[in-house]
Order: sequence, then structure tokens, then C-alpha cells
Amino acid sequence: MIPLKLLGSFWVLVAVAFAVPAQEKRIHHHADLSDHAHDDSHGFQYDHEAFLGKEEAKTFDQLTPEESKDRLAKIVDRIDIDKDGYINHSELHYWIKHRQRRYIEDNVNKHWKDYDKNQDDKIAWEEYKNTTYGYYLDEEFDDVDDKATYKSMLARDEQRFKSADRDQDGIATREEFTAFLHPEEFDYMKHIVVQETIQDIDKNGDGKIDLDEYIGDMYTPENGESEPEWLQTERKHFSEFRDVNKDGFLDGDEVAQWVLPGEVDHADNEAKHLIHETDTDKDEKITKKEILANWNMFVGSQATNYGEDLTKRHDEL
Ligand SMILES: *[C@@H]1O[C@H](CO)[C@@H](O)[C@H](O)[C@H]1NC(C)=O
Ligand SMILES: *[C@@H]1O[C@H](CO)[C@@H](O)[C@H](O)[C@H]1NC(C)=O
Repeated sequence: MIPLKLLGSFWVLVAVAFAVPAQEKRIHHHADLSDHAHDDSHGFQYDHEAFLGKEEAKTFDQLTPEESKDRLAKIVDRIDIDKDGYINHSELHYWIKHRQRRYIEDNVNKHWKDYDKNQDDKIAWEEYKNTTYGYYLDEEFDDVDDKATYKSMLARDEQRFKSADRDQDGIATREEFTAFLHPEEFDYMKHIVVQETIQDIDKNGDGKIDLDEYIGDMYTPENGESEPEWLQTERKHFSEFRDVNKDGFLDGDEVAQWVLPGEVDHADNEAKHLIHETDTDKDEKITKKEILANWNMFVGSQATNYGEDLTKRHDEL
């Protein structure tokens, strides 16, 4: 039996969401690649965290320059997927995106064995359902309200599991299970994020969101209380901004624009930036040699003193 607390952790996003302003709570934002400002004239911490991930960047800061370069050389081999000796934009973009996905993978790995009871390194839908909901669906569990809640959570999970399960074999690989738990991180799961949002808000079940449903999602009138002013702003927001085609409803496309805004692709920008700074022969791809010549932009090391390095560079010019 899986503790309820664990079950709760997958819904934590929903809970946290209520603490932020109403109109924001359903938006899935992409975090930046680093908390440091991206200003290479003051150091490369942003690039290090983007290229290595936060934890790994810290590890590299403890290494000597030699160790740091050695490890960087090994990383370059891993980035070069087709082993042609060049890192192109798409290889670097893929690498950076996956560094950022690591905290998610760590979370999945942490809970993996709780679900994978038969230890075949896969999680069948039945396995997940059994572990997560088994007790609550049991005859003996007779709290009617709770049972209804768990049944609707189960239906939502099943729908999402089926979307994540790309080959439709009813069994999730690690990658598919990650997509199940974190659908907003995967392009092929975006439609399910939109669908779940609509299902949450669409009380009359016509498959789209009208103004009353939109407002009802953030505000329930108390007896005798007059409507707060910010709701007027929200109403305007709905008709002027969210309802792009002005038909009085939010459909799937409009909900997608709302909850999954096409934000800057930070990994794409960073890949372009690193290549631009490193590509001395201007062929738009970079070699291990070019990367190592510019190693302290990619990784840190104990001896890296940004102030000094930059002054030195300046003098050399
Ligand atoms: C970059 O490399 C990948 C293989 O790792 C290849 O599929 C892709 O076509 C390359 N892109 C360009 C623009 O050469
Ligand atoms: C479901 O749970 C029960 C009791 O814990 C167990 O006996 C059964 O084998 C499980 N089924 C699956 C498919 O994991």
C-alpha cells in the first residue's frame, strides 16, 4: 500500500497553484536554466548551470582545471549523438534540455520502486492503479464522498496514462511514466494538459469554457458578499484576451495559449549562444577542440577566477 502522502505529492502542483493570483494559477511556466543572471562579462555561472545542471555545476566548481577539462571532454562525446566529431545546434539543444529535465527524472526514480512491485523496470497501468487506488476502491472502504473523489482521480489518471503510453501496450517505460507524471514537460502530452484543464473548469460538459465557468474556477460567491473588483478585470481579460476568436467560449486552442504560453525556449537560446561564442571557424558546429579551447565558459573549476580571467583576456586583446 502506498501512503496517501505520496499520492498527494503528485497533486502538489495543484495545491501550490492556489497560492498564486487567480488568473495565473493554471499557467505552466518554463523555468529559466539558472537563477544567475546571464551576463558573461561577470562570469559564466549561467552557462555552467545551463550546460551541466545546477548540481553538476557545483561539482565542477570543486575540480581542478585538468579534471574539469577531462570530464568536459567525456561529456562532449556523449553530446555528439551521431559520433561525427561535431556538435551541432540540435545535439546541444537536446543536451541542455535534458540537463534541465534531470530534477524531474530524479523525482520519478525516487518513487519508481514503490510502483514497480514486480521489478521488471516497467509500470503496468494495473500496477499503478492497484498501488495508488487499490485500498480506496475496495468494498470495505465505505466513505462514499471520498470514494467518488478517488474514482474521478482514477479516471483522470487512466486517461493521462493512456496518452503517455505511446505504444499503447498498457505498460509505461520510465520515459512514459515521466510523461505521465509531468505531462507539461512533453510536447506529445500537451493536448492532455489542455484537456484536463477544460475538464476541470467546464461544469456543463459542452467541451468548452464559457465566461461563467472561467470565473467560477477562481471565485465562489459567499452569501451576501458583493463581487470583488478584481473579477471585473478577469471578465475583461476573458473577452479581450483569452477568447481570441471572440465567440464567447474558450476552445482547446485558446486554452492551450492560456495555460501553455509559447514562451522563450531558453535551451534553444543557450545552444545558439554557446555555439556562437565557441565556433571559431564559423561552420555553425563545434568540435571538441573548439569547446576545450573555451572550456571555462562551459564548465567551472576551482582555479577559475572570473575577475582575473576576464582581466587577462582583456589584456590579451
Ligand atoms: C545534427 O546532428 C543530428 C544527429 O546527432 C542530425 O540528426 C541533424 O540532422 C544534424 N543537424 C544539422 C543541421 O546538421
Ligand atoms: C494488486 O494488489 C494485490 C494486493 O496488494 C495483489 O495481490 C495483486 O497481485 C496486485 N495486482 C497487480 C496487478 O499488481
